[in-house]
Amino acid sequence: MSTPPNNHHHIDINPSTIFEPVVLQDVPSEIQEDSAESQQVQPQEQQQQMYNLQSINSTIVIRQLPSQGLSFKLWPAATTLVTLLDSNQSCITNSISVVFNGSDAIQHRRIRILELGSGTGVVGIAAAAILGASVTVTDLPHVLPNMQFNVDANAKTLKLHGGAAEVAALSWGDTQNMEAIGREFDMIMGSDIVYHDHLYEPLLETLKFFLLKSEKKIVFLMAHLKRWKKESAFFKKAKKHFDVEIIHNDEPSSGSRVGVVVYQFVGKVWCKIKPEVDRSLTRPINVRV
Ligand SMILES: C[S@@+](CC[C@H](N)C(=O)[O-])C[C@H]1O[C@@H](n2cnc3c(N)ncnc32)[C@H](O)[C@@H]1O
Repeated sequence: MSTPPNNHHHIDINPSTIFEPVVLQDVPSEIQEDSAESQQVQPQEQQQQMYNLQSINSTIVIRQLPSQGLSFKLWPAATTLVTLLDSNQSCITNSISVVFNGSDAIQHRRIRILELGSGTGVVGIAAAAILGASVTVTDLPHVLPNMQFNVDANAKTLKLHGGAAEVAALSWGDTQNMEAIGREFDMIMGSDIVYHDHLYEPLLETLKFFLLKSEKKIVFLMAHLKRWKKESAFFKKAKKHFDVEIIHNDEPSSGSRVGVVVYQFVGKVWCKIKPEVDRSLTRPINVRV
């Protein structure tokens, strides 16, 4: 595991968490728009991916439709985020309680999570199962049928672990979509959602909506695999509104110079207004300083 910068919190991933291999290239040519005939599924185009979640001794199954474009595939950052959740289940749950102004209100209801740009829905579905959380998985409208298929395929597992997942359209920056979804979330997640530069502004607007205008401190966990230098522009803009901290680095996979990085974003405005509860969500998790 690579050494994080000195002032960054760092979460250990349990290396024994077992996933089926995700065979994807982390090169820019992979980032192609979805195909027009998204929903005409041919049986031979489908791929099933099994995820063994060790913390709950259960498996989830995810359908990919690789020929239909980037929204229908599993991405490396998603696997990292699922592994992180699987390895740090209780710490994440406890930490979210801390964000609740020290109250135990969260003990009496499910944690509510919003996932942005969910694609196949794997991260949200895994989070719902691992944390017994109520998760809203979102994406562009044409992506939702496959995501709903995956939610339905895992319904029994989610129920067994007290979790639930629902599917909703959320096009970044679309005020109507965001208002319809509401702000009743404890945490926001996303994996591999920073890639095309024309999406930086809408994504930042979405983060501002959910993180800066909430009644309480909301944390955004984002797993990201850097592909282009220009992505630094996204982080530069983000740091004007959010405190951005690295909480985990993956080793680069073979042939790559960089590995997946997991960031934690917290609104600066929110921290200034309520400094007494300004605590890092992930602080209790195996921190190395
Ligand atoms: C590279 S994929 C990652 C998918 C998934 N999070 C994962 O890691 O497997 C990027 C996702 O962002 C979604 N996306 C792209 N532009 C979007 C927008 N304007 N609003 C909402 N989602 C968008 C895509 O449809 C796609 O599912």
